[in-house]
Amino acid sequence: LGFTHRFIPAAEPNIPYTLLLLHGTGGDETDLLWLGEELIPDAGILSPRGQVLENGMPRFFRRLAEGIFDLEDLKFRTHELANFVATAADSYGFEPDRVVAVGYSNGANIAVSMLLLRPYTLSAAVLFRPMVPLEPSQLPSLTGIPIFIAAGRNDSIVSPEETERLVKILQTAGADVTLTWHPGGHALSGEDVQAAKQWLLTVI
Ligand code: MLT
Repeated sequence: LGFTHRFIPAAEPNIPYTLLLLHGTGGDETDLLWLGEELIPDAGILSPRGQVLENGMPRFFRRLAEGIFDLEDLKFRTHELANFVATAADSYGFEPDRVVAVGYSNGANIAVSMLLLRPYTLSAAVLFRPMVPLEPSQLPSLTGIPIFIAAGRNDSIVSPEETERLVKILQTAGADVTLTWHPGGHALSGEDVQAAKQWLLTVI
């Protein structure tokens, strides 16, 4: 299928959702399994490892420096990942229109890129500490797509202004965005996870 990945089928047949777990820089396909199991117990899990290496650390796309992305690589990797999800749905037999992205940091950034460039890949998204990875000249329609964003007030990588800009872009595309602020920084906290879990109960 291309990506090194973990797939765990839904333990409960009437939970039709598959969580697409997207790790941060330096993570791998095992990193966020606990998070998927916590967010929707018994849902299916598809967890790929980012195919770009930065000093030996897996990522989902290339960057030139912190916050400065290689846009050509980002676009290429976004389509590559969206194609992987479609192929995986086919070979594992999960619902392609019930895929919920759960991304942290670099993984949240490629999830945003997928929402903007391949909008039909995801039916919802949980984004921890996302940035604006790119701004397409034409926005897709994300009407009715529920998106949860957990930002850090004191995030040294993502400024509050960038978070607000991302919210505006996604809302302009029609998405149903819920933004929560954590007092901490870029690291994922237990409060973020519980807020996402509560939010998921209301949308799926
Ligand atoms: C990125 O490169 O996607 C962001 O800077 C977040 C990260 O450090 O992974």
